[in-house]
Amino acid sequence: MSDKGKIIVTGGAGYIGSHCVVDLQLAGYTVIVLDDLSNSEIGVLDGIAAISGVRPVFHQVDICERSALRAILKEHRDAFGVIHFAAFKAVGESVEKPLAYYANNLGGLLSLLDTMSEFGLDNLIFSSSCTVYGQPAELPVTENAPVQPAQSPYGNTKQICEEILQDAVAANLFRGVISLRYFNPVGADPSALIGELPLGIPNNLMPFITQAAAGLRTELKVFGGDYNTPDGTPIRDYIHVSDLAEAHRLALERLINKEQSSAYEYYNIGTGRGSSVLEVIQAFERVSGIRLKYKIVDRRPGDVEQVWADTTKANEILGWKARRTLDEMAASAWAWEKKRVESRE
Ligand code: NAD
Ligand code: WQD
Repeated sequence: MSDKGKIIVTGGAGYIGSHCVVDLQLAGYTVIVLDDLSNSEIGVLDGIAAISGVRPVFHQVDICERSALRAILKEHRDAFGVIHFAAFKAVGESVEKPLAYYANNLGGLLSLLDTMSEFGLDNLIFSSSCTVYGQPAELPVTENAPVQPAQSPYGNTKQICEEILQDAVAANLFRGVISLRYFNPVGADPSALIGELPLGIPNNLMPFITQAAAGLRTELKVFGGDYNTPDGTPIRDYIHVSDLAEAHRLALERLINKEQSSAYEYYNIGTGRGSSVLEVIQAFERVSGIRLKYKIVDRRPGDVEQVWADTTKANEILGWKARRTLDEMAASAWAWEKKRVESRE
């Protein structure tokens, strides 16, 4: 396999990062993973190796620890750039522990940027989120929609991180920075060798569904059936994690080929299609053959009614398009859950 160059991936043992590492390695990049394993397991590297045939170089490090990070980036200063996934991501937990979220998500980015600029690493891809749009006035939401006041400390960290990146680029500290605003990543690699590892009771819909189907949760609650949507349940743009991984590679290649029109760019990464909670449940039932028991209960505080992406910008400029269907998302999430159940037995 040709070596296309070295890329550093923070949070590369995590859910989205691990799928991105697989995609990059299959495309011929050499990947260096930095992760403190605060929300992942070392065994993820075995899955990555089994799928892609390559075990990435791994450094267990908290990126907030500047001296440790400095030694690693010094060693890998020949890398083209960094894809930065490492952050805390649980919305509810961020309300209870705001300081931990600001410290890790802002502190991690600042420590990374400072150290990158010291070693001349001047290209970065950042994991942002559709949460920056809140409930948009117009759907599908384009990148021109205003960023709305954040609903949680977690959401606020994404907004502040994007502002930090814009300021750093304006000061010419970095050559190319791309923020990818993910919609709702779900599913797993078709091998079922890597996937999402939620800690405790999942907050997100798809892992709750698969755990309920596996008998690990008693009842699936649908949070709200009285929204102004066709079936009364909220609508989201669910995107297969493997499609999301590919978007990172294409964004990276835009930086490598120096194709940017501006040093800081940002893109919506979704499918462009919205699905309601009940449609996700139906897709799961269709692909698994399992009938789910669910109950419609009160709305979950802070939830927006409906949001899905206009992906024209990513389609036309990055040359990227999500290809996988909602059924493929549900089927791969279920295959991964079943594998985990077997490994626990
Ligand atoms: P994840 O928790 O599975 O992965 C994050 C990884 O970063 C974990 O392996 C964790 O151990 C590591 N990490 C956290 N803090 C660290 C630190 N200080 N130093 C080193 N490693 C650290 O989460 P994910 O779902 O893969 O999300 C990846 C990124 O995408 C995050 O920035 C998240 O906010 C963002 N994002 C996620 C979603 C989603 O729904 N999953 C949606 C939008 C944006
Ligand atoms: C989807 C829909 C729930 C669980 C969150 C973050 C967002 C981003 C992605 C990181 C909603 C409903 C859920 C359940 C349910 N993450 N639901 N029963 O809230 O769109 O986005 O993850 O950036 O920032 O907020 O995703 O999967 O939690 O919920 O009815 O047991 O499923 O109410 O309508 P959400 P989700």
